[in-house]
Amino acid sequence: MISVMLNKKKHNRNRFDCGVEALNNYLCLMANQQSGRDNTRTFVLEDNKPENIIGYYTLTMSPVNLLALPKIIQKKHPNFHAGGLIARLAVDTRYIKQGYGEWLLIDALKKMLSASDTVAFPVVIVDAKEGAIEFYKQFGFTPFLDLPDKLFITVADIRASLK
Ligand SMILES: CC(C)(COP(=O)(O)OP(=O)(O)OC[C@H]1O[C@@H](n2cnc3c(N)ncnc32)[C@H](O)[C@@H]1OP(=O)(O)O)[C@@H](O)C(=O)NCCC(=O)NCCS
Repeated sequence: MISVMLNKKKHNRNRFDCGVEALNNYLCLMANQQSGRDNTRTFVLEDNKPENIIGYYTLTMSPVNLLALPKIIQKKHPNFHAGGLIARLAVDTRYIKQGYGEWLLIDALKKMLSASDTVAFPVVIVDAKEGAIEFYKQFGFTPFLDLPDKLFITVADIRASLK
């Protein structure tokens, strides 16, 4: 399996339905435009028919409130203020519970690790939709101290677990 950049000429964005309207709408209406403006990048996983999207994720950067992270991380990274952000991640309901969400998350983390090798940043963040917090926790993400639906994982932990 391989993820590819969203291509509005090839991918049938209107068919995609993950059950969360905001995530469907983002893919249909915003993802391509935001990529064109270099604000975000959206990658999709195609099924056998390449126009059909199994799932997608969107990557960008985000400011980080250092004080909302555990003291040990504050000490280690006293001067950083930004991290990689998995801004969106969703699987079409026709394909859920088949391991695609996990595959997309690992693929997104590999891309983040690769990006951090070039432009260093020490954490990757996700904004988890309600009900998805446990999904991220099982892959090593930890909630921020002040915002339980915002979670982080250190790039060092990603590197260690992808070895
Ligand atoms: C959450 C979502 C991405 C999971 O996708 P999926 O393809 O069904 O997930 P997978 O089949 O890869 O599941 C991997 C593991 O996560 C678990 N899991 C899946 N969804 C979960 C959830 N919402 N909460 C907790 N665990 C979850 C699975 O049980 C599985 O664990 P196992 O390996 O021990 O069986 C998908 O349901 C989705 O797109 N939901 C709507 C949008 C959303 O909430 N996105 C989250 C980011 S904002």
